[in-house]
Amino acid sequence: MLILGFESSCDETGVALVELREGAAPLLLAHALHSQVTMHEAYGGVVPELASRDHVRRVLPLAREVMAASKRSLEELDLVAYTRGPGLAGALLVGSATANALALALGKPVLGVHHLEGHLLSPFLSADPPEFPFIALLVSGGHTQLMRVDGVGEYELLGETIDDAAGEAFDKSAKLLGLGYPGGPALARLAEFGDDKAFALPRPLLHSGDLDFSFAGLKTAVRVQVGKLANRVCEQDRADVAASTQAAIVDVLVAKSMSALKQSGLTRLVVAGGVGANRRLREQLDTQCARRGVRVHYPELHLCTDNGAMIALAAAMRVAAGRGSPRPAGAFDVQPRWPLAEAA
Ligand code: KG4
Ligand code: ZN
Repeated sequence: MLILGFESSCDETGVALVELREGAAPLLLAHALHSQVTMHEAYGGVVPELASRDHVRRVLPLAREVMAASKRSLEELDLVAYTRGPGLAGALLVGSATANALALALGKPVLGVHHLEGHLLSPFLSADPPEFPFIALLVSGGHTQLMRVDGVGEYELLGETIDDAAGEAFDKSAKLLGLGYPGGPALARLAEFGDDKAFALPRPLLHSGDLDFSFAGLKTAVRVQVGKLANRVCEQDRADVAASTQAAIVDVLVAKSMSALKQSGLTRLVVAGGVGANRRLREQLDTQCARRGVRVHYPELHLCTDNGAMIALAAAMRVAAGRGSPRPAGAFDVQPRWPLAEAA
């Protein structure tokens, strides 16, 4: 099965061609990505209208690039997949309209994919793919969730953030430190030079007994700390705040993941979403999981943040599992707000 996938839910235009062969690991034949980061940087965050317009400009050249690199023809496609939601409505419409127009012209079916399902299944494209069942820690700019995953489309939400997402906590703290957008990677880089014990920042809900998260209080604590330093802030202070903030976020993510594993009795953890690229998070999870005899799986680093490969893959795995119904192209829709449970 040959699937072309389009991702355009936020600030990255991604296109990829994935092949799913029976009895073999899925194969990423080609993928291309354009990140709008430099365009949104000046505004300190994603400007939805600019995002949509840029997706329009990029999507077809990227699709041509992918097809050329794969040396396959459009006629060989079995399915065209796109991110149906959640995300920015205007941005989603670009991927959806492109996928549907292409599929209509080719007489091929389409399948709309849930963006988080894409992230969730992305480690299946790695050199060390997981096996079901597993606990998934989904940490992106918009979501922080712990899930029990028993198979494709079998997702049980165990806990999630009650306010900001982990990525948002990184981004907002980075902004307070005067770092650019997106703040996560920038804060992580600065944290390398800091002392993670310099400032005692809160670990919200660490001992709440459930698997929910809360990061809004941490952001407030960072604001207070930066305010206190305002008159004498130096590079080292900024690095110390960055390191302390990263440590607080990572500590909570790791502790709750361990609780989820313990409560479920499962011995496999899958980490997905942009924050999954964080080095400290990976190091701490590796250490804690090794101690407990848990196997931990990550997507390839370049597939942690948004991309088309995870969308093509999720569509392929849905169809292969008999849990996705490709439909004729044409009547396209998007779902900017779409709980994963409703997609399953
Ligand atoms: O999954 P993603 O690309 O987009 C969403 O679906 O939201 O995640 C983006 C988020 C941003 O908040 C970004 O700051 C964060 O992932 N991020 C990181 C790192 N790389 C990306 N956060 C911490 N450390 C990183 N290395
Ligand atoms: Zn994402």
